[in-house]
Amino acid sequence: MKIGILGSGKGSNFRALLTEIEAGRLDAEPVLVLADVEGAGILELARGAGIPCEVIREPKFRTKLSPEVEAGVVRKLREAGVELVVLAGYMRMVKAPLLEAFPRRIINIHPALLPAFPGLEAWGQALEAGVAKTGCTVHFVDSGMDSGEIIAQAEVPVLPGDTAETLHARIQVEEHKLYPAVVARFAAGDLA
Ligand code: GRF
Repeated sequence: MKIGILGSGKGSNFRALLTEIEAGRLDAEPVLVLADVEGAGILELARGAGIPCEVIREPKFRTKLSPEVEAGVVRKLREAGVELVVLAGYMRMVKAPLLEAFPRRIINIHPALLPAFPGLEAWGQALEAGVAKTGCTVHFVDSGMDSGEIIAQAEVPVLPGDTAETLHARIQVEEHKLYPAVVARFAAGDLA
């Protein structure tokens, strides 16, 4: 199964996927990495692994892509033969061009137990709310903010003395197991 990855940041989830693929435990082929932030760590990771990667340039908006830029993303993903679009720390809303091109074939990982704490810095939201546990969620992407159908979740305890950093780090440990496991289910044809 050919996967295309969209990211904006350091790309630790992408690295976790690569590790599983390279170890032969995940039957997926990353064919394209696209980042909307120049210099994003995820691009370095892709280059290091010899995977084609490109920067998406969006001069008009910060929280979404304009329709013509997103249509260009669709074109690139299609040309690369992408079957599953994996958002890995991609910080923009996904709009019609991409959603319509890949119905039920775009997934995201979010650092909270959705529907709790959608949006930015979900680990900070969880700390502030004083919950005893949070976690991470893999979900289908729709036009809303972290609102698509939930595919899988993993729980993480909030511990006394946690800071935003320690909690996010503990959540990421679970993300790095959960995301490859879900991608493997797509590769096996278990999720449609
Ligand atoms: C993760 O916490 C993920 O849940 C959220 O953005 C972060 C991306 O981290 N969507 P990384 O770039 O994969 O390290």
